[in-house]
Amino acid sequence: MTALDQRRARILGQMGITVWKSRLDSDDAPTGESRPEDSKTGIFDEPETVKTVDSGQFENLEEVASVVRGCQRCPLSRERKNAVPGTGNPAADWMFIGEAPGRDEDLQGLPFVGRSGQLLTSMIAALGLSRDQVFIANAIKCRPPDNRDPAEHEVEQCTPYLKAQIAMVQPRVIVALGRISARLLLDAHEKTPMSLLRGAVHTYEKTGIPLIVTYHPAYLLRSPDQKRIAWQDLLLARSQMN
Ligand code: URA
Repeated sequence: MTALDQRRARILGQMGITVWKSRLDSDDAPTGESRPEDSKTGIFDEPETVKTVDSGQFENLEEVASVVRGCQRCPLSRERKNAVPGTGNPAADWMFIGEAPGRDEDLQGLPFVGRSGQLLTSMIAALGLSRDQVFIANAIKCRPPDNRDPAEHEVEQCTPYLKAQIAMVQPRVIVALGRISARLLLDAHEKTPMSLLRGAVHTYEKTGIPLIVTYHPAYLLRSPDQKRIAWQDLLLARSQMN
């Protein structure tokens, strides 16, 4: 504050007028107080104003995982126990992409370790593969409270991590599990029904990587009669290996 500002504040104070001073402008803001440079971390900003990560900035999958574990770019980071970057073979032919961690995944920091995960493991085994042979990740890396759908700005902040992972693994086929990851990976309208997404061979962006959409294992647990259709999707995915 300049001497003039101080004089003006003193006079206004004598007149009974409170002078508000921005804490962001203050030199004596306590440690941990928000300052303009904190916007680089994103944690103190309005979600919409946080700059997204550049998916091309990472050297390798470990670096993506480490940045994801410390990410504070959206409000989901405040509620999580653990971020869940994804796991599996860095040179996998198959990549399975779910929606977002649930309670078990949040507790363990690993994708698909709850009931849906058990079913996904069985689906992978039915293809003659183990979890170690494939790469499993989620579109959103932190658990949304009460398993709600992720908000648009949360998706926007998180997508570069998944894009970086796909670019590094370079799978021969991508299986999108459920509508959220399918719409995200295909840049489809948020109301596009699953019936229009599954049963076809799509391509992930301009990479030429075939992308197959199937039902989310959580849905299959609720609707076991759809497992037969999901198996057809997996066979369609396998046919892309030839
Ligand atoms: N559902 C998902 O979409 N991902 C998980 O990791 C667990 C449940």
